[in-house]
Amino acid sequence: MQRDGRDVRRILVTGGAGFIGSNFIRHVHEHHPHIELVNLDMLTYAGNLENLEGVAGRYAFVQGDIRNPQDAARAMAGVDVVVNFAAETHVDRSIHDPGDFILTDVYGVYVLLEAMKGCGVRLFIHVSTDEVYGSTAAGRFDEESPLNPSSPYSASKAGGDRLAYSYFVTYGLPVLIARPANNYGPYQYPEKLIPFFITRALQDQPLPLYGDGGNRRDWLFVEDTVRGLLALMERGEPGQAYNLGAGQERSNLEVTRAILTLLGKPESLVQRVADRKGHDFRYALEWGKMRALGWEPRVEFDAGLRRTVEWYRRNEAWWRKLIAKKDYLGHLKKNYE
Ligand code: NAD
Ligand code: DAU
Repeated sequence: MQRDGRDVRRILVTGGAGFIGSNFIRHVHEHHPHIELVNLDMLTYAGNLENLEGVAGRYAFVQGDIRNPQDAARAMAGVDVVVNFAAETHVDRSIHDPGDFILTDVYGVYVLLEAMKGCGVRLFIHVSTDEVYGSTAAGRFDEESPLNPSSPYSASKAGGDRLAYSYFVTYGLPVLIARPANNYGPYQYPEKLIPFFITRALQDQPLPLYGDGGNRRDWLFVEDTVRGLLALMERGEPGQAYNLGAGQERSNLEVTRAILTLLGKPESLVQRVADRKGHDFRYALEWGKMRALGWEPRVEFDAGLRRTVEWYRRNEAWWRKLIAKKDYLGHLKKNYE
């Protein structure tokens, strides 16, 4: 893997023990044998070293906090590229308790960007989200669309996203921003819609569908996101933002029914519950800038969901350990017991 005609030798991944970060590390470790990986992760409830079992050699784990300047500087030493996944990520948790979202998703980004000054990092990929544009009933957002986030999570992510940009403009640091759509696939913590509903259906427990189930998301298989981030590492331009869409839009009810069908479970498991506060109706992206870099999403939703369901079926020990923990689902737990 090269950037600007020079090898990329060492990558710092923050949040590499989470869902997308661990898929990224596994992929790079397997397919790029000349790259060393450093994983800086503080192991919140969402961080799980079991996601990285078997990754050894050319890999170092540093338990630390992106909000801590010493941890950030230590992990960044000698690194060519930083990919910043570390974040608080669950919208429902942000509605109940926004503080950690602001601290990690805004202030933590600031600490990483400060650590980058004068330390020779050649590229900083900041992983933002499609949610920064807010919701739209029709049409698609491109990278020039105004940001209009509407949950404490997405507002924090928009803060981090624009702060990253400001370090490009103000200090000339080589920073770019990726904005992926809703990801799904192996190793996703079972609080997010797809793994939550798969694991509950496997246990014959009710599936709490918010509102009328008509809200829509565009579903991007995690492997496609990883390939997109690698395309950005090779060919992305500093100062730019890039949308990673999937073109696989579904209503939540459609997703729920597809899960039940794959598992051979009855629709009577669906339980309509009160809607999420401020629930965004729909996210939808244009991804022409990524296409121009040679990237397209490859995995269609039906195939990706089948693979995901199979993974959760075969890895019951992985998710059973997580759902047995006291902090599983946080404040929402009481609703589902
Ligand atoms: P995740 O919640 O599965 O994992 C987050 C990881 O970050 C965990 O390992 C956690 O321990 C670590 N972390 C949290 N706070 C930290 C801190 N202060 N210091 C160090 N480590 C910390 O997240 P994910 O779903 O893999 O998302 C990764 C990134 O991609 C996030 O920035 C998220 O906003 C973004 N994103 C996610 C999706 C999605 O659908 N999952 C879509 C678009 C963008
Ligand atoms: O769009 C990208 C974003 O996708 C990421 O930036 C976030 O980190 C990630 O959490 C995700 O946010 P969403 O809010 O879209 O994902 P979630 O899985 O929480 O919910 C998906 C949809 O399903 C949403 O419309 C709410 C609904 N839902 C969710 C849960 C957990 C339910 O109906 N019932 C549920 O129990």
